[in-house]
Amino acid sequence: MNAATRTRLNQMPEWTALAKHREQLGEVQLRELFAANPGRGAEYTLQVGDLYVDFSKHLVTDETLDLLRDLAAATDVFGLRDAMFRGQKINTTEDRAVLHVALRAPGDEIIEVDGKNVVPGVHAVLDKMSAFAERIRSGEWTGHTGKRIKNVVNVGIGGSDLGPAMAYEALRAFTDRDLTVRFVSNVDGADLHEAVRDLDAAETLFIIASKTFTTIETVTNATSARTWLLGELGAGQEAVAKHFVALSTNAEKVAEFGIDTANMFEFWDWVGGRYSYDSAIGLSLMIAIGPDRFREMLDGFHLVDVHFRAAPPEHNVPLLLGLLGIWYGNFHGAQSHAVLPYSHYLSKFTAYLQQLDMESNGKYVDRDGRPVDWQTGPVVWGTPGTNGQHAYFQLIHQGTELIPADFIGFANPVADLQPGLVPQHDLLMANFFAQTQALAFGKTPEEVRAEGVPEELVPHKTFKGNHPTTTILARELTPSVLGQLVALYEHKVFVQGAIWNIDSFDQWGVELGKVLAKRVEPALSEGADVPGLDESTKALVAKYRELRGR
Ligand code: F6P
Repeated sequence: MNAATRTRLNQMPEWTALAKHREQLGEVQLRELFAANPGRGAEYTLQVGDLYVDFSKHLVTDETLDLLRDLAAATDVFGLRDAMFRGQKINTTEDRAVLHVALRAPGDEIIEVDGKNVVPGVHAVLDKMSAFAERIRSGEWTGHTGKRIKNVVNVGIGGSDLGPAMAYEALRAFTDRDLTVRFVSNVDGADLHEAVRDLDAAETLFIIASKTFTTIETVTNATSARTWLLGELGAGQEAVAKHFVALSTNAEKVAEFGIDTANMFEFWDWVGGRYSYDSAIGLSLMIAIGPDRFREMLDGFHLVDVHFRAAPPEHNVPLLLGLLGIWYGNFHGAQSHAVLPYSHYLSKFTAYLQQLDMESNGKYVDRDGRPVDWQTGPVVWGTPGTNGQHAYFQLIHQGTELIPADFIGFANPVADLQPGLVPQHDLLMANFFAQTQALAFGKTPEEVRAEGVPEELVPHKTFKGNHPTTTILARELTPSVLGQLVALYEHKVFVQGAIWNIDSFDQWGVELGKVLAKRVEPALSEGADVPGLDESTKALVAKYRELRGR
């Protein structure tokens, strides 16, 4: 469907039908829904790959789900999906195809961009990465002084950092524990300082990860890393080749920086930064977990791609998750969405999803540049359980906001957990199940009174419940399961962007800050009179210079 000819979302009859249905449902209670259908807990579930998805604790009926699927049909979500998989340039504001799905396609698949099959190139880079990763892991690749590489430092930001950093953390149990792998992203010199202060430069490999190779933070940190390395080694430029490799789409800039393009791992403009950690951007991860496990992870991604492409609407899990988000954001006024993994290894998962979701769907104009008059992407937030329970869960349980949440948990701890710690897993998961139960069903004033609570405390100890959650449960956190999870969220974000009729694949909103930072910098460092500074910023800059003793 041509976006320009599309009826405005909130004028579609399917939208109006949902609004009416929302009114009719009123304050429907999960307690009532379960009382009316005790089988709901087993029925309102779907499976994709290893992920068991329970959506029974949502404020929906069969009719709600039908109406939401009608909206997906009316907005042609699957048409846009097919266009994406076909390699069409659905990122219209940048005139680019959106083909992260090609990064995990099997070698015999054909996906064309401008008439050229991109899959062979993907596999050629994967093979090159695998060979390099093996050389590092085996000790065959040595540094400038002949020492084996024991430390890998990825320097990148945004999509060139969050994905590999998250996945490295998630898959720590599968990593070579003799390697030290670190991630430097912040232009605050403290980040690089702390990352390298205890490392032997002779044993350190820097991976400079930047799609554009122009990002100021990354180029600055890469330059400082090079200065540090050459200083530590007392060596000249010739040492760079053994200690620096690049992950980029921009060979020219890589060469300009002084990295041999033979040591560059390429990807393509049809891979968005926040969709890129399964491309060359994942090299640090591949070194850590080895090429075979990296490919297992890609297979996990692919499995969900196939599902998203083939499963009918009633069984399509990314579609369902996307629609549930629409239901709460657009018809209940929810402004945020919590993602709460009950796995310490997923400690960076939600931070990763923040970029994936908020950089994709934080848009206020539609594909035709018209302001939208419906809410788009939510604020995504959360940290691993059980820690969050002792921090912000109070607000989810008894605050005034409606906060839909995803709970992600695993039936088994990772295989290499010390045997003495294994029993703790049941306690972790008991909390996982208890929280979604408490959020859904709460505690009535009668139940509180029955416990002998004094009347004046009854309102304080009452839990209204009715807080919707999705539970995602898998047997164990493996590379494949991680790939499945990430692909699930990628496609969920896609579904929502398609319905809102926004371009989920550009990110113009981050540009202004970048431009202004460049402009302001000379005012800080040299006291330059920068034209166009507003009065507030001028005063702050003066204060800053005073505090710095300038
Ligand atoms: O923050 C904007 C952004 O362009 C992200 O989309 C991207 O992931 C990040 O900067 C880093 O970009 P690059 O990989 O080109 O250095």
